[in-house]
Amino acid sequence: MDGFRITGGKRLSGRIRVDGSKNAALPQMAAALMAKGPVQLRNLPRLSDIDNMVRLMKELGCKVEHDGSDLRLETSDDGSWHARYDIVKTMRASICVLGPLLARYGQARVAMPGGCAIGDRPVDLHLRGLEALGAKIELDGGDIVARADRLKGGTIFLGGPFGSTVLGTANVMCAATRAEGVTIIESAACEPEIQDLAVMLNSMGASISGAGTPRITIRGCTELYGCDHQVMPDRIVAATLAIASAITNGDVTIEDFPMDHLLAVVDRLQATGVRLERLDPLEPAGRCTVKVTSERRLKPALFTTQPYPGFPTDIQAQMMTLLCFADGNSIVTEKIFPDRFLHVSELTRMGALVYRQGGTVVVQGVNRLVGAPVMASDLRGSASLVLAGLAAEGTTTISRIYHLDRGYSRLEDQLNALGADIERFDVDAEEARSAESDCSTGTPVT
Ligand code: EPU
Repeated sequence: MDGFRITGGKRLSGRIRVDGSKNAALPQMAAALMAKGPVQLRNLPRLSDIDNMVRLMKELGCKVEHDGSDLRLETSDDGSWHARYDIVKTMRASICVLGPLLARYGQARVAMPGGCAIGDRPVDLHLRGLEALGAKIELDGGDIVARADRLKGGTIFLGGPFGSTVLGTANVMCAATRAEGVTIIESAACEPEIQDLAVMLNSMGASISGAGTPRITIRGCTELYGCDHQVMPDRIVAATLAIASAITNGDVTIEDFPMDHLLAVVDRLQATGVRLERLDPLEPAGRCTVKVTSERRLKPALFTTQPYPGFPTDIQAQMMTLLCFADGNSIVTEKIFPDRFLHVSELTRMGALVYRQGGTVVVQGVNRLVGAPVMASDLRGSASLVLAGLAAEGTTTISRIYHLDRGYSRLEDQLNALGADIERFDVDAEEARSAESDCSTGTPVT
């Protein structure tokens, strides 16, 4: 198992480009299951989640060619419609094959995803949406089994207690492209990843309008074809890099920064005193070049995570780490996954003063964090610990870095190129060596 050893206190500077978006790419790979003909996806990030999805696509009978950041997917009519628990349990996002499989084969069997470190993650809205299209759904041995001789368009409401559902919207939107008649999704997720999926589906021959708004209209068609699609930049990675610059008192220029998709984050960063300067004001704001600087004399801020265009839950943990360095008290409220706070106790080990009550955390600004051994427990929480390690005094070791590798492509290489000092090491080998040396020196084990 890999870990990171971070020597803190290095100021980041230089230039970096944002990779393609994991959360856009995963449902797009699933959507390729519906195409007659090859789908070419470009600008894919190299991540373990993408590798897991490739494994699932192959199991489903898809031919996959992976070449750097390009991926070619081709499915035939005799593919499989069973996504087994072995793979689904490694990645919850596998649920996004449900709608495409149902659309292509008229049936799908997908293992019900289990719980997850960031809280309960039900799929009731996905199922309700597909049922509204005429699918018959039952649970069998832990699998969701969906069947429909012919999906039929209708009006579907996808709002839930915590807003809409991103992957649920993706599933229903995909299935509806092959339904008879018109489907209207009300209270659809407005996230940019849904907009990017609609662009891809339209280039496959679908007819979707309104993606990016709470009402999406889909006119069903009988066939979808191959396409060539460029995956949008990863807004979560972009924001993490911006915070890395800010927290190290840095001066980093970020290319392919999706400013349009990060307005709530940019607003909160500016409220704390971080400067984000667009270097190419004439380019479209979806992929711009931004210089992020900060003196790290930060002001406190309040923010609440919300569905897009609100502050993203996927940047809550990283922003909380930044606010540890503010001069005063900040308040962070999590409204999407109210238990997504596993990073709080780890930050406390580094000297942060963070107090949680339910879905709210008060962050009392401190002047310094001090390096410590900490443990990653989920993807974005791990990123927040890396940020803390960059800014802390001394050495921070982070174990279970495989959580980070799910969503950040060799983050240590990217940050080291900007002047950070991060070493990836084998935690098990190091523990074994230290146990051996304890034995040979006779250190008592209690
Ligand atoms: N929800 C329901 N019922 C459902 C589905 C969701 O009540 O059927 C609730 C969830 O429990 C949650 C809220 O609705 O409270 C939003 O969940 P959503 O379904 O939108 O989450 P998701 O689609 O499973 C995607 C991202 C997550 C991101 C969320 C919210 C992917 C692969 N995952 O998950 O990304 O946090 O949207 O924006 O796109 C990450 O990248 O670290 C990550 C967790």
